[in-house]
Amino acid sequence: MQHSENLSSKKNIIILAVESSCDDTSASICKNGDILSNVIATQDVHKQYGGVVPELASRAHIQNIVPVVEAALQKAELELNNIDAFAYTQAPGLIGSLLVGAQFIKSLALAFDKPLIEVHHMQAHVLANLISNDKPKFPFLCLTVSGGHTQIVLCTSPLNMQVVGQTLDDAAGEAFDKTAKILGLPYPGGPLIDKYGKHGNPLRFTFPEPNIPGLDFSFSGLKTAILYFIQNETKANPSFIQDNLNDICASIQQRIVSILLNKLSAAAKKYQVSEICIAGGVSANSYLRASFKALGEKQNWNTYIPSFEYCTDNAGMIAITAYYKFLNKQFAPLTSSPAARAEW
Ligand code: KG4
Ligand code: ZN
Repeated sequence: MQHSENLSSKKNIIILAVESSCDDTSASICKNGDILSNVIATQDVHKQYGGVVPELASRAHIQNIVPVVEAALQKAELELNNIDAFAYTQAPGLIGSLLVGAQFIKSLALAFDKPLIEVHHMQAHVLANLISNDKPKFPFLCLTVSGGHTQIVLCTSPLNMQVVGQTLDDAAGEAFDKTAKILGLPYPGGPLIDKYGKHGNPLRFTFPEPNIPGLDFSFSGLKTAILYFIQNETKANPSFIQDNLNDICASIQQRIVSILLNKLSAAAKKYQVSEICIAGGVSANSYLRASFKALGEKQNWNTYIPSFEYCTDNAGMIAITAYYKFLNKQFAPLTSSPAARAEW
C-alpha cells in the first residue's frame, strides 16, 4: 500500500480500532494517543452455557459491530471520513470472532483508502497502561492476567516486548472461572469470586502454592486441590458452600494472587526493574489490585494499573497500540488475515 508518504507529518492522527477476539465487541477512537471513545458490547448469550460458545460469539459480533462502531464515532464526534487508519485485533482469539472484526475493518480501509493496522491482543493488554497521564517509564514489567493468558512481559519500548514467564497450563482467569464453576457460580466466575471474597476471611482455608521453577506459573494443581476440598467438605456438610461462600472465595482469591505476585517479585528482582504494571481482565480483581499496590510500596516500585474499562477486553487498548504502530509506519496489506494463535 502507498500510505507511508506524509503520514508522520500529519497534524492529527485519528485511528478507529475494533476488538472482537472473544465475547466482547468493542470499538474505540484514538486521537494523537488520547482515547476519545471506547464502546464495549458484552454478550450475555454465553451465561447459560457456562463458557463462551464460539459460533454464538461470532454471530453476536456480526449483530453488534455496526452499532458499536457508530456509537464510538458518535461519542468522539467524528465521522468515518475523519479516520486516518483502521486497526483490528489480528491474534490471538476465537477465529470466527476475529474474522468479523478483520473483515469489517479491512472493508473500511479499502473503501476509504486508508492504512490498515494489525494488533496483537496480548501486546495491547500491556499497552493499556499507556492510556493514562501517569504512564510507566521504560523499561517496565507487566503481569498480564486474562482469561486465556498469564504472562510476565518485559517491555523496553512500546513495540518491543519479551515474554519472560508464562503459565504452563491454565491461565489465572481460568483458575478463577473454573473454581467458581466448582462452587456452582455462573460464567464468568472471576468477578463473582471477587464480589463474595470481599466479605470473607482470606486466611480461613489454605490451598497449595505450586513449586514451579523460574518465572513460569501453573494453576491446574490448585484447581484440582480446590475440587477435592469441596467434594470432601460437602460430603460431611451438603450446605458447606452456601455456609462458607465468602471465606472460600476470599481464600481462593488469596492463593491465586499470592502465586501471581510472588512470581512478579522474582521477575522484578531478576531484571532489576522497579516500574511495574498489571493488565488483563483479572487485573480488575480488587484483591489483586490492593495486594499489588501494597507490595509495590513495600518493594519501592512505581506501580500502574489501567482503569477498569481498559483491564477487560476493550478496543481502547487496540487503538493505543495501533497509534504506536502508526508512528512506526507498521501497516498491513489488505491480504492481512487473523490467526487464532500467534507468537510475538
Ligand atoms: O482480558 P479478558 O477480558 O479476556 C481475555 O482476553 O481472556 O479477561 C477475562 C477474564 C475472565 O477469566 C474473568 O473471569 C476475569 O478476566 N475477570 C476477573 C475479574 N474481572 C474479570 N477475575 C477476577 N476478578 C475480577 N474482578
Ligand atoms: Zn484479553
